[in-house]
Amino acid sequence: MQNYVAYHQFATLPNGRKVVIRFLNGRDRAALIQFFQAAPKEDLQFCKEDVKNPRVVDYWLKAENAQRIMALVAEDLAAKKIVASLNLYRGQHAALNVGEIHQILVARPFQGLGLGSLILDQLIDLTAKANFHWLKVEVITELKNVIKAFQSRGFKVRATLEDYFRDLQGATYDVVLMMRNLLKEEDDF
Ligand SMILES: CC(C)(COP(=O)(O)OP(=O)(O)OC[C@H]1O[C@@H](n2cnc3c(N)ncnc32)[C@H](O)[C@@H]1OP(=O)(O)O)[C@@H](O)C(=O)NCCC(=O)NCCS
Repeated sequence: MQNYVAYHQFATLPNGRKVVIRFLNGRDRAALIQFFQAAPKEDLQFCKEDVKNPRVVDYWLKAENAQRIMALVAEDLAAKKIVASLNLYRGQHAALNVGEIHQILVARPFQGLGLGSLILDQLIDLTAKANFHWLKVEVITELKNVIKAFQSRGFKVRATLEDYFRDLQGATYDVVLMMRNLLKEEDDF
């Protein structure tokens, strides 16, 4: 993945908080772990990685994974706290043009303020410039707000996968596969 150390996108949210969206770096480690620890389990249980485990954060930060993983964070500038996080994995070999969102999380007090949309806009811009052609994400069908947030950024539901995800108790959940074409506008599937 390209190194976008200089990349900073500033915004003021409707609650008056000023945030910056930028790439995750090693100095964020403790703050990011704290951000995930503070998040309610319901917001994290259908992520594709166990982000409450600090080793997952360490994996993202490893230099050898920099080409494969794009990790964005939003920081509340006054509080100096991370208030949103997004992770994308780049496909390999034949899937080099495909990026998969493994997790997106906005802190509860910041949800519904446009921050998730803003961070997705930045991701779309950055990945289009980095020669991705597709973004994909898998979301359980019950998370209507999450599906709506992706749809509002041009992601389309391309398939429903029955009993695809499971929770810690082993119960299974239907999942929608959502795709965003970065090269052209798409018709509904
Ligand atoms: C999904 C999520 C990232 C969206 O971020 P957000 O900042 O709350 O979303 P936005 O304010 O940009 O809203 C985006 C759209 O989704 C809707 N929406 C999503 N979550 C909402 C919420 N909690 N409250 C109100 N509206 C919400 C809005 O109506 C909006 O639609 P619009 O653009 O047509 O108005 C965020 O709600 C979240 O972190 N959820 C929990 C984590 C999760 O389940 N992640 C997915 C699996 S890893």
